[in-house]
Amino acid sequence: MNLYRIVYASTLSESFSSQDIEHILASSRRNNKKQDVSGMLLFSHRYFLQCLEGSRDNINQTYQRILSDERHCRVTIVSYENVTQREFCAWSMGYVPESHLTRELLFKFSASATFDPYTLSNVSALALLKSLHGTVI
Ligand SMILES: Cc1cc2nc3c(=O)[nH]c(=O)nc-3n(C[C@H](O)[C@H](O)[C@H](O)COP(=O)(O)O)c2cc1C
Repeated sequence: MNLYRIVYASTLSESFSSQDIEHILASSRRNNKKQDVSGMLLFSHRYFLQCLEGSRDNINQTYQRILSDERHCRVTIVSYENVTQREFCAWSMGYVPESHLTRELLFKFSASATFDPYTLSNVSALALLKSLHGTVI
């Protein structure tokens, strides 16, 4: 079965509350583990950047659920590709807290030091996620 990776950006909706992130992580980890999906979620500045890796069917099903989730909006695909290996195989859903996303790191991968995942290229978005490997919880 082919391996795929999707990276998307989204924005918190008005209804989002601070406990929502814990609920999202709990259901992500439970569902993704069952479906052999790995990935990482970055949250900062009202934005999400998430990567999901796995079979095409499982990635598509997961993304469909995520798309209809009212806790976020402006869900926009940054990249969707057939890949030879996973980059986030250690995590059913790794999470990088906001405090780990430093201005230096953002400046390195984007045109400004402010986190705006909609402005990142596919290559920069993946490079940013990979550079955060060491800070994932
Ligand atoms: C930013 C964001 C990321 C999410 N990531 C995942 C994910 O990786 N896997 C997943 O199953 N659900 C994810 N969800 C939650 C889904 O939208 C949906 O609520 C959940 O899959 C429903 O499954 P449950 O009924 O088992 O909780 C995410 C939601 C948001 C807002």
